[in-house]
Amino acid sequence: MLKRFFIVISLVVFAYLVMPTDLSAQQYGFEGTQVCGTCHKTEKQGQQLKIWSESKHASAYKTLMTEAADKIAKEKGLAKKAVESPECLKCHASGHDVADAKLIGAKFKVEDGVQCETCHGAGSAYKSLKVMKVREDAIKNGLIVWKDKAEIESKCKTCHNEQSPTFKEFKFEEMWAKIAHPVPKG
Ligand code: HEC
Ligand code: HEC
Ligand code: HEC
Ligand code: HEC
Repeated sequence: MLKRFFIVISLVVFAYLVMPTDLSAQQYGFEGTQVCGTCHKTEKQGQQLKIWSESKHASAYKTLMTEAADKIAKEKGLAKKAVESPECLKCHASGHDVADAKLIGAKFKVEDGVQCETCHGAGSAYKSLKVMKVREDAIKNGLIVWKDKAEIESKCKTCHNEQSPTFKEFKFEEMWAKIAHPVPKG
């Protein structure tokens, strides 16, 4: 009897462990830069909110509202304005294609363009202080991390590539220096 009980328990635990994590990954919602910024704005933390807001990523959506952008869209044969075209939004804005309203937090703004969560992963499940403080817990709850510079570079190149109508070349070290936002040491 007891043995059977343990077999059942181990099956349940096993099923839990092998459950596809990708499925649950899709369920994380976007919170928006202001939510991340409530903590990541102090000098001690490294002022990530300020560094980001002064970077071009913060205005990537607004760039699509310019005449120059509409001209590019037209040349590409797109029927809509640049800011309404998924072909442009896919690199210029986070969350524009999320159909499920439950996955868009109250403070999220698509106008914020390339946001914290565009790179770090949708944060609804890792944004709490309790989870954020423990790196492994944050990762389990959707925080994306990279093993080295090469992995970071390939992340950048998912957008910084020839599919960008204005692309010239992407020099990683130079470009990273322009947006780096480390937590100060010590
Ligand atoms: C309630 C406060 C709080 C909020 C909100 C918050 N964070 Fe954090 N975050 C922290 C703390 C504390 C750490 C640990 C930093 C440290 O060790 O100094 C951290 C660490 C991180 C790290 C570093 C992880 C690592 O070790 O590589 C990243 C990246 C990060 N947060 C991104 C985000 C993003 C993106 C959001 C918004 C979705 C967010 N955080 C929201 C408090 C917060
Ligand atoms: C989701 C797409 C996306 C990802 C990922 C991305 N970027 Fe960008 N980046 C953009 C867009 C779009 C612009 C142009 C914004 C504008 O000019 O309005 C841009 C602009 C920039 C600029 C300003 C360009 C300049 O000439 O000053 C820098 C620097 C930059 N990105 C660095 C990076 C780095 C480094 C990474 C990887 C860590 C990265 N980006 C990842 C979409 C992305
Ligand atoms: C594959 C990702 C990607 C796509 C798709 C994309 N962009 Fe961009 N866009 C970028 C990046 C990255 C930059 C900044 C660096 C560069 O020019 O490559 C940028 C920069 C721009 C700029 C600013 C150029 C400058 O010189 O300051 C405009 C305008 C622009 N994009 C319009 C558009 C329009 C319009 C579309 C849709 C037809 C579009 N983009 C599609 C990634 C993309
Ligand atoms: C274009 C992509 C991109 C955007 C946008 C972005 N980050 Fe990051 N962030 C990175 C990368 C790449 C790293 C470096 C990770 C590493 O060194 O392993 C990083 C590192 C961090 C760290 C850890 C720094 C450390 O020294 O441990 C924190 C905290 C962080 N980001 C928070 C934010 C917040 C908050 C925002 C928005 C206000 C934001 N990031 C926007 C890509 C991005």
